[in-house]
Amino acid sequence: MARARVIAVDGPAASGKGTLARRLATHYRLSFLDTGKLYRAVAARLLGAGLDPNDAVVAAEIAASLEPDDMDRADLRSERVSQAASIVAAHPGVRSALLNYQRRYGRSPPGAVLDGRDIGTVVFPDAEAKIFVTASLEIRATRRVKQLREKGNKAIESRVLEEMAERDARDGSREVAPLKPADDALVIDTTDLGPDEVFHRAVGFIDSKGG
Ligand code: CDP
Repeated sequence: MARARVIAVDGPAASGKGTLARRLATHYRLSFLDTGKLYRAVAARLLGAGLDPNDAVVAAEIAASLEPDDMDRADLRSERVSQAASIVAAHPGVRSALLNYQRRYGRSPPGAVLDGRDIGTVVFPDAEAKIFVTASLEIRATRRVKQLREKGNKAIESRVLEEMAERDARDGSREVAPLKPADDALVIDTTDLGPDEVFHRAVGFIDSKGG
């Protein structure tokens, strides 16, 4: 049977993990999955139905019945959905409902680069290579403001920073699958690095593993 390669890219919001993961997928000719979209889709459906993201039972039911269209909703990247995504992501029932989908995706040949928070620690602890991308809160907030403005959204930097800090704290302190680098991950701090340098370091690490 054809072997599926899995590369895990984890890190906090706006650390550059999405940019890196997409580029690695193209370079190694693998599929790409932004796993944050799954949690965002659960949150957006809940909010759209006027339900409470803190309701673990309802959130897990929605996670178990996600449809491909849910991942294409226009509101997935709104701040309201971002916050609700990190609330639903702390429910163990939501995480376990989304686990099989992520594993099936990664195991389908030729394999995939997955980006998220717990890919190297929980979803694929046996991934061929794990990369943890991080950066200072200030630079991440600046990057997110730029992204939002480029898409025509209004963004106040101090508010974006505050909301990001809140999400970091929630993602890092939850009991299930908290945000943290796997022991065998390459940690790249992108605070002072451009996308090309980050990409070259990641490729150097992946290729050194003998891929
Ligand atoms: O793009 P950004 O980094 O801001 O967020 P995202 O990757 O789309 O993730 C949104 C939220 O989903 C995060 O704040 C996490 O709470 C949650 N998430 C998670 O718990 N596990 C993942 N593998 C991916 C996202």
